[in-house]
Amino acid sequence: MAIERTLSIIKPDGVAKNVIGKILTRFEDAGLKIVAGRMMKLDESLAGSFYEVHKERPFYKDLVAYMVSGPVFVSVLEGENAVLKNRELMGATDPKEAAPGTIRADFADSIDANTVHGSDSLENAKKEITFFFSDL
Ligand code: CMP
Repeated sequence: MAIERTLSIIKPDGVAKNVIGKILTRFEDAGLKIVAGRMMKLDESLAGSFYEVHKERPFYKDLVAYMVSGPVFVSVLEGENAVLKNRELMGATDPKEAAPGTIRADFADSIDANTVHGSDSLENAKKEITFFFSDL
């Protein structure tokens, strides 16, 4: 199986709930290694360009406003099938639909305050990792 890297963001609600450690432990317990990590406060320009792909979606403005509302923890996870594994650990985007035991089912409040972001494909993972960690 392929060793992959994927980008994870613990969103403002996850940081505010003081569950960074609990979430990182889930990644580690699933066999993913945290190979880079940084606490950041995004500004509108950075959050806006990170989510550029959603620019035409009706939720874009609220999403960007939410992502700048507090600090986030950005990290790079590495391991076998990291992209899919991380998405399984996160659960569905809308916490109401997230399977029991997933990060979003356990911690998230709403579709915007959904605690974590994870790359949705290997191709996007490469772009998202370079976006935040230009040295990787
Ligand atoms: P994330 O994985 O960070 O990717 C884009 C984000 O947009 C998503 O998580 C949600 O927090 C947010 N969002 C808000 N409304 C929607 C929607 N209808 N569909 C998908 N994502 C949405």
